[in-house]
Amino acid sequence: MLILGIETSCDETAAAVVRDGREILSNVVVSQIDIFAEYGGVIPEVAARSHLEVVLPVIDKALTDAACSWDDIDAIAVTHAPGLLGSLLIGTLTARTLAVIHNKPLYAVHHLKSHVYANWLCGGDEQNDSNVPQFPLLALVVSGGHTQILYMPQHNRFEIIGTTHDDAVGECFDKVAKILGLPYPGGPSITKAALAGDQNRYKLPHPKVDGLDFSFSGLKTAVLRAVQKEVRVEISYPSHKLQDLLTPQQVADFAASFQKTAVDILCEKMRAALAEYPDVQSVAVAGGVSANTILREKMKDISSVPVCFPLASLSGDNGAMVAAACYYEIMSGVKPTDPYTLNIYPRIPIA
Ligand code: KG4
Ligand code: ZN
Repeated sequence: MLILGIETSCDETAAAVVRDGREILSNVVVSQIDIFAEYGGVIPEVAARSHLEVVLPVIDKALTDAACSWDDIDAIAVTHAPGLLGSLLIGTLTARTLAVIHNKPLYAVHHLKSHVYANWLCGGDEQNDSNVPQFPLLALVVSGGHTQILYMPQHNRFEIIGTTHDDAVGECFDKVAKILGLPYPGGPSITKAALAGDQNRYKLPHPKVDGLDFSFSGLKTAVLRAVQKEVRVEISYPSHKLQDLLTPQQVADFAASFQKTAVDILCEKMRAALAEYPDVQSVAVAGGVSANTILREKMKDISSVPVCFPLASLSGDNGAMVAAACYYEIMSGVKPTDPYTLNIYPRIPIA
């Protein structure tokens, strides 16, 4: 079964053709990172406008790269929730129109579900069944908008067992990068800066949050206060000017210390989750932050069950994961949606 996946929930315009939920025939991603690096974050109206400009060429290229015509496509899958309102609208309106014109079944897919299903996708020569996650599993979804632990007893069944009370961990990477004067998106630039840093130079607190929940806004503020203390300014000093007072070594040390603390918090909670759910057979890490090399190293040590990660190129937003999630929805008996009435839900939870 060939599925065309379309993703426009944030600042990537993406489309892909995937066979049977696993084999990527094409995967086209146009990122708006260069536009938003200048502003230090995403501007929703600009994101929507950029999606509008490129969504059709991106879909055309996905079909061409896969050597497919519309006749070969069995279904269209599109992200309808959660995400930026204008961005979701462009993707869903495009998918709805194409589904009607080409008479294809249309499936609406939740963005976090797609991130989890990136773990089922194989790239190039990695067509190997042994490395897909086994059920029941725990999924750690770490992105710019979400930080959640999900219990997944089988395909297409999700139970949220932990969630953030405030900022998502990716958002925290982005905000700390801004304080340190590092470019957006913060995750990759913090990892790069941290290479030259001492991760034990600054002691940052772990939030006290009950159960399997998270909180990351306190960590961001702790970095801000530590920077203010280091450069000896009052807490009222404008935060956007702090970067001018930091030496490159201090930036590297803050980046390394923050990254270590954020990863340790995620690992601590996953250890607790595994203790609470002793039946799980594997862990699947998903979302933009799952590209983090330190997280990948440390998560491998947290348990005796296999810990899966998507291919690094599929950690961020892409259309292939939307197509993969759709395939397993179809296999689980989910029916197509009506292209004339499909709605978007900027904030709806996965379960
Ligand atoms: O999943 P994603 O591409 O978009 C959302 O659904 O939010 O995640 C984007 C987030 C950003 O906050 C970005 O800073 C973070 O993922 N990120 C990383 C890394 N690469 C991207 N965070 C830590 N380390 C990375 N290597
Ligand atoms: Zn995402």
